[in-house]
Amino acid sequence: MKLSLASFLVAAVALQPALSVRTNSLLIDPAALPALPSAQQAASASADVGLNLTNIQGDILIGMKKNKELFFFFTIVNPTLFRSQLGSGILPLITPTSQLLAVDTQPTTAVNIAFSQRGLNALGITDDLGDTAFTNGQIDNVATILGDETSNWEPAFAGTGIHGVFLLASDTIDNVNATLSQVQNILNGSITEAYSLQGQARPGDEQGHEHFGFMDGISNPAVTGFSTPLPGQQVLDPGLFLLGESGDLVSRPSWAKDGSFLAFRQLQQRVPEFNAFLVDNALSNPNLTADQNAELLGARMMGRWKSGAPVDLAPTVDDPVLAADPQQNNNFNYTHPGFDEATDQTHCPFSAHVRKTNPRSDLNPEDTANHIIRAGIPYGPEVTDAENASNVSSTDPSLERGLAFVAYQSDINNGFAFLQQNWANNANFIFGKATPPGIDPIIGTGGLGQADVPRTPSGLDPSDPTRIITINQDFVVSRGGEYFFSPSLSAIQNTLSLGA
Ligand code: HEM
Repeated sequence: MKLSLASFLVAAVALQPALSVRTNSLLIDPAALPALPSAQQAASASADVGLNLTNIQGDILIGMKKNKELFFFFTIVNPTLFRSQLGSGILPLITPTSQLLAVDTQPTTAVNIAFSQRGLNALGITDDLGDTAFTNGQIDNVATILGDETSNWEPAFAGTGIHGVFLLASDTIDNVNATLSQVQNILNGSITEAYSLQGQARPGDEQGHEHFGFMDGISNPAVTGFSTPLPGQQVLDPGLFLLGESGDLVSRPSWAKDGSFLAFRQLQQRVPEFNAFLVDNALSNPNLTADQNAELLGARMMGRWKSGAPVDLAPTVDDPVLAADPQQNNNFNYTHPGFDEATDQTHCPFSAHVRKTNPRSDLNPEDTANHIIRAGIPYGPEVTDAENASNVSSTDPSLERGLAFVAYQSDINNGFAFLQQNWANNANFIFGKATPPGIDPIIGTGGLGQADVPRTPSGLDPSDPTRIITINQDFVVSRGGEYFFSPSLSAIQNTLSLGA
């Protein structure tokens, strides 16, 4: 076959990784968070298992390390044009996992793309991907399954216009915006904006911490064929997160291999209200100051101190050295010699957020089916002085803050939706304990379809584990979301594009 010079040049450019002049990483790297594998480590681990890291979109396996990330939700208005531009123009910009593992292969802005079921429908893709939650969309049954009050939803998420999302990640918002313009130029009017949300790591010493102040992203599962496990980190099959890989038991169309379902949630955080609650309900450890007793209550609700130190290992006093050491900060499982796991809450409350969402040795054998890779990022500004003074979040939309929550899994009903419905929102979970734990004090919702229904977790007061501390308000409010499919690069090329 003879190639004309022009088509040879087009093909050559398409094969290049996105041009990079990087000398600094586009990711953040707080000490508490597990390091990503080096390119060599990942190459040898993936070779053993047969994972193709150049085919898997970069956001799926790297966790909560984004610095700035724009979620650009779009509607496809010209499917034929979109499909032709996707293969010729967008595919060369899509960032696979392999490119993110070393600074000198990172692009200026990492570009990932994912589609809702409505988006696949719009493209004329009729295959069933084998996930009913994805097929039905997040709005379906959301009140009964997730507990959201849908009147709090962003109208865009409640409507029918979200066909897909671009995830644009870099170290500056200027880079992100420049890449968004580039993407829009390439797509040439075939999409319109449905909604967007700008995520950003918090400033200064708060980098890596979510808006309540806690270090986030410490505990994600280690994935066989990608990461080297740290002490205490559970090692799980890649098929729990990537379709068609070992451990994914559902039958899928072959092109879906190496894709992942992305559960997106815009979770508003009422930070001043949370802080006021901690002060008003501070614990009463006589060896601690009032401020420390307020901090202790927050740490017990979360299951970690703001530093990231797990309360299971540091029950009454924070341990910043332990917190900053990934060899130690995830190495716990709620068992302690001489203590009965069915009654002991002197270490970690049964209701703590991290325990409700990953009960570790509370389940015997340890659960291997209900796990997610968290890849979210905070959004919105810091709390203002006026909000701090009033203990009330501003109603000004430009001051809304929270977590742009992202969870990857190969089965949403076993992953994000399971964790939210069956564990966080279930007052009796963790089962078999001497005192019923109550609903997750951070993300749980006490009413189906209704916000701010009082929650009554037990175990928060170590001096009296049966004591109920009533929480009359939700500190996390769901503003809605959608389920997406993040396809492999080869699926983008061979199935989703036209004329590739
Ligand atoms: C605004 C909402 C949320 C906040 C502020 C929040 C905060 C945190 C923090 C600070 C940690 C501890 C750090 C770490 O282990 O990485 C954590 C862990 C975790 N969160 Fe959340 N989270 C939120 C929403 C959710 C949701 C919606 C889910 C799932 C339904 C979830 C599932 C988890 C899981 C699985 C862990 C790891 C637990 C472990 O392995 O020990 N989180 N979260």
